[in-house]
Amino acid sequence: MNWFVLFVFVNIVICAHCGEKCTTPKNETGIPPRGLCGFQQSDDYNYKTDEISINEFPWIARIAYQRAGESYEEYLCTGSLIAPQYVLTAAHCISGDLKPTRVRLAEHHVFRNPDCIYDEDIGVRDCSYYIDRGIAKSIPHPDYDVQNNMHDVGLIKFNASIRYTDYTRSICLPSFDIPEPTVGDNLFISAWGWKMEPDAVFLATKVKQKTSVQILSKDNCKTVQVNEGQMCTGYNSRTECLYEAGGPLMFSYKNKWFQEGIALSKSKNCFRRSMTLLYTKVSCYLDWIYKNMK
Ligand SMILES: *[C@@H]1O[C@H](CO)[C@@H](O)[C@H](O)[C@H]1NC(C)=O
Ligand SMILES: *[C@@H]1O[C@H](CO)[C@@H](O)[C@H](O)[C@H]1NC(C)=O
Repeated sequence: MNWFVLFVFVNIVICAHCGEKCTTPKNETGIPPRGLCGFQQSDDYNYKTDEISINEFPWIARIAYQRAGESYEEYLCTGSLIAPQYVLTAAHCISGDLKPTRVRLAEHHVFRNPDCIYDEDIGVRDCSYYIDRGIAKSIPHPDYDVQNNMHDVGLIKFNASIRYTDYTRSICLPSFDIPEPTVGDNLFISAWGWKMEPDAVFLATKVKQKTSVQILSKDNCKTVQVNEGQMCTGYNSRTECLYEAGGPLMFSYKNKWFQEGIALSKSKNCFRRSMTLLYTKVSCYLDWIYKNMK
């Protein structure tokens, strides 16, 4: 048996388990209390550019790490605030060598504190200070499998709660009463990263970015293998790189934002034509998430 045949064979065997069993959440527990989750102060965000205002996506969290032997911290993953003491992220961001040291919320320009904007229309200056939280507990999914990315979901519990403001608020989780986005729908991801210049010089994007991506059918995911509990999106023609690993794939429904996916890229993603991105499907892990937030 040559290696290619073996490879195909192994893939078929592994994929015997890759059904699409996980579908829409069921109405078992009724509608969870949502409060102000998924709400952002200015809903007049700009769909045309990657410009983002300081109170847009106020649930985006930067996760800091200090690697062995280093004296400085690095932000290597993103997460999303889903409750006053919890951030949802990927299991791969909180297992193995990756031990988070802090979580930063209400961040916009990474070198400025506070971040301020001046709204000329109403003559108001709006400012936000970042908020750091220590880690009480990291909870990767117990069945997370490094080899095939299965069950790549995890929770970080802070050592002190976050008070919700215009700059810090949770994103809503999917629920049976919210339609699931389908193939072709536009969703958003948001993170910090680099801009790729024509001469291939990378410049840090100091300000939080957003990017729209489109849900692809499983057959069109091409370069990535999509297992049960996962989905993929395609992305077209922009020149930037984002550290969006662990961050939310976001869907807007009736002026509220819902988290449909957790980004699974393991390194910085430089978007070019037809980039395919893989996500854990949040709706498949609601039971696990709610059970572990107690
Ligand atoms: C969902 O479940 C709740 C509580 O069991 C029930 O009151 C409600 O009618 C159900 N809603 C739908 C749309 O089935
Ligand atoms: C939380 O953790 C941070 C960082 O480790 C620490 O500075 C802070 O004092 C802790 N706060 C509480 C309330 O334990």
